[in-house]
Amino acid sequence: MENQHIAVVTGAFGGIGSSIVKALVKQDYFVVAVASERRTHADYDHWLNAIQVDPIQVRPLFLDVTNTELCHHAMETLLQEFGSIDLLVNNAGITRDTSFKKMTHSQWSEVINTNLNSLFNMTHPVFSAMCANQYGRIINISSVNGQKGQFGQTNYSAAKAGMIGFTKALAYEGARSGVTVNSIAPGYTETPMVSAMREDVLDSIKAQVPMQRLATPDEVAAAVVYLASDNAGYITGETLSLNGGLYMQ
Ligand code: CAA
Repeated sequence: MENQHIAVVTGAFGGIGSSIVKALVKQDYFVVAVASERRTHADYDHWLNAIQVDPIQVRPLFLDVTNTELCHHAMETLLQEFGSIDLLVNNAGITRDTSFKKMTHSQWSEVINTNLNSLFNMTHPVFSAMCANQYGRIINISSVNGQKGQFGQTNYSAAKAGMIGFTKALAYEGARSGVTVNSIAPGYTETPMVSAMREDVLDSIKAQVPMQRLATPDEVAAAVVYLASDNAGYITGETLSLNGGLYMQ
């Protein structure tokens, strides 16, 4: 593990998260795969088997990313063990889609806590260490719906747009210390989250995508690999859109 880059990826067991872990392992990262505290070691074994990566390159961390204290403690422990964390991918996210008129406060706050407040919880404990180390990469997985808005997603769009603001502001703070902070804004991607949508609604969205297809999780993971690479060392505060032309800024 000596000289190996260390990455922490949240939402690791999800559709996009799994592809990100796989792609980073291919780049020889050691990956701490953060999954919800509701997951079990049996889920981990099942996932590992499904994504077919060398278990020596990965370790699970079952953690509630909405819990500030637990996240601080977990990240501090990792920093003590590894000395540094080179890459943090804030990918954990949920949906609670419903029109705003029908939305409950708990549907609002569950999404804001998981998708946006988790960025504070996960990033705050590692950012100072990255700056002191004069190297770090932080990549936040936002969404096209944080850029353009979406009927039924006031909570999700607010959180995903917030991630972009966070990215730009933190990029200023990391710039002189070799820490880049970027977002990726995927469009509709072939994941369980998108498969859970009503078929007629998904069909109508697909029809609006100029490329007439969904993104693949591997396409999103390739963007993570690029932004994490030395080739992207001069890119910071950027949001890389990956949406088949659904929204062009
Ligand atoms: N624009 C304007 N009006 C709309 C609309 C739209 N896009 N969609 C629905 N409406 C209207 C309907 O016409 C209907 O009007 P009437 O009452 O006058 O008939 C009203 O709103 C209610 O529509 P629904 O029957 O669809 O309402 P619902 O409560 O059954 O469903 C919903 C609401 C669950 C939000 C559903 O519309 C939906 O699934 N929307 C898509 C949400 C979405 O895109 N989610 C993405 C999930 S994946 C993800 O988030 C990953 C990512 O980053 C891309």
